[in-house]
Amino acid sequence: QCDLQGLWRNELGSNMTLWATNAAGTFSGSYHTAVAATNKQILVSPLQGAQQHPSAKRHPTFGFTVQWQFSDSTTAFVGQCFVDRRGKETLETTWLLREEVLSHKDTWKATRVGTSVFTRIK
Ligand code: BTN
Repeated sequence: QCDLQGLWRNELGSNMTLWATNAAGTFSGSYHTAVAATNKQILVSPLQGAQQHPSAKRHPTFGFTVQWQFSDSTTAFVGQCFVDRRGKETLETTWLLREEVLSHKDTWKATRVGTSVFTRIK
């Protein structure tokens, strides 16, 4: 079983805490990014997510959004939790970061995409 609850770190050094998933599969948490696309001071930001089949699945898929407290952007992550033979858990994710642009003409440059792997630190 893969448990999303806990403290996780990705390859950028960002940390996130995920609180326990409820019976409906939804969860919340906080995200402390190590990097930002803005020059503003980084603040810990809340996240809201949902996991599929919270009790039944061994490698559940999930998604969450981060509402950044220091920028106008939003990031959505989707991913899957894996456990290797030694019991090491990883969250393999893909993210989209939408930044606020002042005109729809700038939409073409408003979205970044990437992948990220989180490992449990607590
Ligand atoms: C912003 O720069 O407007 C908000 C912070 C965005 C941080 C991004 S989200 C995807 C990537 N993974 C991280 O841990 N941080 C960056």
